[in-house]
Amino acid sequence: MSAPRPAPAARSGGRLLLSELRPERRAIAVLTAVLIVAVGLPVAAQLLLGRFVDDAAGGATAGQLTTLALSFGAMLLVAGALQLLVSALAVRLAWRIGNRLRVDLCRHALDLDLTWHGEHSAGEVIERVDGDVDAVTRFASTAVLEVIGNIAVLGAVGVAALVIEWRAGLVVIATVGIAFFMLLRLRSLAVPFHDVEREVLGHLYGDLEERLGGLEDIRANGAGPWAVDRLHRGSARWWRAARQASLRAEGGYASTGLTFAAGTAATLGVAATLAANGQVSLGTVLVLFRFVQMVQRPLERIGEQLSEFQKAVAGIRRAARLLGMPIGLVPGTTALPEGPLSVELDAVTLRYDSFSRRPLHVFVEDPSRERSRDPAAALRGVTLRLEPGTSLGVVGRTGSGKTSLGRLLARFWDPSSGAVRIGGVDLRQADATSLRARVAVVTQEVEVLRATLRDNLTIFGAVAADDGALHAALADVGLDRWAAGLADGLDTVLDGTTRLSGGEAQLLAFARVLLTNPGLVVLDEATSRLDPATEDRVRAATRRLRHGRTLVVIAHRMATIDDVDLVCVIDDGRIVEHDRRDALAADPTSRYARLVATGLGAEASAASDVGQETTP
Ligand SMILES: Nc1ncnc2c1ncn2[C@@H]1O[C@H](COP(=O)(O)OP(=O)(O)OP(=O)(O)O)[C@@H](O)[C@H]1O
Ligand SMILES: [Mg+2]
Repeated sequence: MSAPRPAPAARSGGRLLLSELRPERRAIAVLTAVLIVAVGLPVAAQLLLGRFVDDAAGGATAGQLTTLALSFGAMLLVAGALQLLVSALAVRLAWRIGNRLRVDLCRHALDLDLTWHGEHSAGEVIERVDGDVDAVTRFASTAVLEVIGNIAVLGAVGVAALVIEWRAGLVVIATVGIAFFMLLRLRSLAVPFHDVEREVLGHLYGDLEERLGGLEDIRANGAGPWAVDRLHRGSARWWRAARQASLRAEGGYASTGLTFAAGTAATLGVAATLAANGQVSLGTVLVLFRFVQMVQRPLERIGEQLSEFQKAVAGIRRAARLLGMPIGLVPGTTALPEGPLSVELDAVTLRYDSFSRRPLHVFVEDPSRERSRDPAAALRGVTLRLEPGTSLGVVGRTGSGKTSLGRLLARFWDPSSGAVRIGGVDLRQADATSLRARVAVVTQEVEVLRATLRDNLTIFGAVAADDGALHAALADVGLDRWAAGLADGLDTVLDGTTRLSGGEAQLLAFARVLLTNPGLVVLDEATSRLDPATEDRVRAATRRLRHGRTLVVIAHRMATIDDVDLVCVIDDGRIVEHDRRDALAADPTSRYARLVATGLGAEASAASDVGQETTP
């Protein structure tokens, strides 16, 4: 087993964020400068307002007052325009950073081995790559600036208030301090309730997804009312949790509102007393009053943004952890040879938990998930040789390890011990691109992508082929008549309305294989039954695939492999029989001959009624 590549980006969330911010130094500096001016202007404008009142009381001319009023308006206008500029700059900056992070995460997740992907549902991976980054982007694009801007407003107001009248200024600052303290305290009281709400909601969605996924079974078994009842119960739980949480959160805002009301009264009281003694002007009283009014909203916004901040921190932490996951299957540099490829398995053992153990500790917060895995080997001491251009049929009961053998040949997994060599190259040394080009796999469950037939065949242009080649490949696998019936030909989108049967999906996958022209093809036959006509087409197409290639067919139906060169029978992870097919067929005591006699289907399906994989 190759040593896992050292974690490419094993770093903390903070370091990750810093490294993402570094290339944006200049943009951040510009943004900060604009932000400071945008925040400072409205505070300074209040001072003009005070002067306006005092000058008016002092008998200034209408012209002077108009100038003051116009300056006041102009300052607010410019501040508004600058705020707009700040938002535009911030959104662009945040998306640049977010998108870079998304690409990094996506690349890394795609490089991670299949054990990891088996442990994490598609939804989880999407949540990691998109949801977490989204939280970071959202916070970075709007919330972070708002928080910084609002803190700046609070600071500017505090300083300005102290400068123009220190006693009243102290009252303003005390009001802000008390209100902030209460906001934090009451918020932290609400946090556990928000957690409960999220958890209840997660369960509700999980249930819903499961029910929708099993729609056919639920309908068939008449479990509809039960599912609806569960939904009602789940929704009721959510409503209760949401009410609890929002009552507490609203309570927090109500009490800061009260604090501000009291603070405003106190400030006005102090200022009015000073004004009565002739120590401050009426304009100053107005400015102080405006100041207390100005800080309430920013303070509340800071409180609101704290939860966004927590989400963003959690998101960047999880992103850093994902980037720190070591890649188990490090590609080599040796290209596989041209032409049909030989296959060699040397005392190969495969345990599915082999190289995921250590990384899992990094990622899975719940270690019980790891312990629950069965450590028994799926393949044990398998040794096998295939000359280039020969075909091998692999048979055995369900769960015996056939699919596992196929996965090793395509290096979806590395063996826990022993070696797999294709065309003489140990797969651990094989170059990834050449491996994907030279070894093709058709799995038990062919994935038909929701895309055009052309994109399905070329995998979005990964395979270079003109329309002529595509039509030829379709004809080779016997799908030409089916394709001719499609409304838009190669441009038909394969979705719910253009259903393919399981057999047709396999044929489509065969056509993909023909287009890439690999030297080794591994076919993992679908376990579901095909109608006789489709089965004949699959067999004919399989024969077509054999020309000039090495072929490994994992068969669930004996008919599929009635003309292969070699047969091996796998039982419980071991090869229990391995010889030329005609020799085995001629020996009535061989397992293969007995399987043919009883019909493999009977044995396979007898054992496979429980836990059988199904083909969509
Ligand atoms: N991703 C996985 N993680 C853990 N264990 C696995 C995984 N895939 C298969 N196994 C286990 O390895 C053993 C061999 O499975 P495999 O899929 O190779 O059987 P199979 O011969 O292909 O069966 P079938 O005829 O049903 O397709 C089984 O015990 C199975 O439970
Ligand atoms: Mg299988």
